[in-house]
Amino acid sequence: MKKTWIILLLFLPVAASGQKFPNLAPTPPMGWNSWNTFNTNINENLIRAVADAFVKDGYKDAGYKYIIIDDCWSMKQRNKEGNLVPDPAKFPGGIKALADYIHSKGLKIGIYSCAGTRTCGDYPGSKGYELQDAKLFASWGIDYLKYDWCNTAGLTAEKAYATMRDALFAAGRPVVFGICEWGDNQPWLWAKNIGQLWRISGDIAPCFDCVVDHGSYKDWGVMKVVSMRKDIRKYAGPNGWNDFDMMEVGNGMTASENRSHFTMWSMLASALIMGNDVRSADPSTVGILTNKEMIAVNQDPLGIQAFKYKDIDSTEVWVKPLKNKEWAVCFLNRKKEPVSFGFNWAENMISDPDFDFKVDFSKEKFNLLNIWSGNRAGTTGDAVKAQIAGHDVLVFRLSH
Ligand code: GLA
Repeated sequence: MKKTWIILLLFLPVAASGQKFPNLAPTPPMGWNSWNTFNTNINENLIRAVADAFVKDGYKDAGYKYIIIDDCWSMKQRNKEGNLVPDPAKFPGGIKALADYIHSKGLKIGIYSCAGTRTCGDYPGSKGYELQDAKLFASWGIDYLKYDWCNTAGLTAEKAYATMRDALFAAGRPVVFGICEWGDNQPWLWAKNIGQLWRISGDIAPCFDCVVDHGSYKDWGVMKVVSMRKDIRKYAGPNGWNDFDMMEVGNGMTASENRSHFTMWSMLASALIMGNDVRSADPSTVGILTNKEMIAVNQDPLGIQAFKYKDIDSTEVWVKPLKNKEWAVCFLNRKKEPVSFGFNWAENMISDPDFDFKVDFSKEKFNLLNIWSGNRAGTTGDAVKAQIAGHDVLVFRLSH
């Protein structure tokens, strides 16, 4: 063999690594995940029924696509060949048949594994089996992998996630790669070339502003997740998103709190992964989760995460630049009590601290759409005067 050929062959594996699949998440991924509501109580009938609900109840039409099976889907041990085996009591038909069903509905399927030796729920993790697992997932038709960070003593997050990225790439089936190390290792600094999204917090809890202390770790209410990290929005954008965790909309909060939660996930350009029982969601919850105008803010092609412009007493003003020089502006009442709120646009000049967008409302006038009422609401030529219910939002899309 000629020397040049040998050199070329030596470099081939290197050329194949170091890449993630291109353009799998130009806008934040939308879907559903089993964990928040079902924990370990998952099975194929549930997952099929979720796929049916996606089609029947308008989630698919609204843009939701990924149905993600979280932890606790496999047997407690690998088989003799070292493969992960779906628990036959939960998934008697296997994952491939389930994937086929989900694909037949025009939807996509996600699964869960962990960078460590065992998952957080104590099932086998992928450490040392990355390529074998990636190939297995590809053979089943998996489209999305959530990859957790339990039992990882001795591992470096960036390296461990890069190993799985390379395995997925080598397996050859495009897979959205969701990094889930809770923001512990500042993934926004290194994960853009590894995954399509990265968690920025510990696990969410179904409450507006609480902290649930488990001793060695904590779960975080919706507002705690929103305000946990500073200065990370500049790292997010198309194909690399800050992930504020699966949503708790429909999991026991008030309608106002659900609306604020969904609004903030949309404003923050987070993945919109539902975490409720979509088979039995009440009309208010369905209405919130499928609000087309709010989703359009989340899915805006610029992919710019909102920033907090200012606090006005207990009301936070959040601003998100949108395509065509439009804006989304959200007034969020953090208090339990209603507020009488006023905002004179003409006195505000807003400058994005990280991206090149600014607006001077004394010079430029916009039409207002009230996103939650669906009503046209005049122009920025007039001051806003409104009552905002406790823990609720007032959100406008500003256009020309
Ligand atoms: C971790 C993750 C959760 C969920 C559980 C499953 O806590 O952050 O989202 O996947 O593990 O055990």
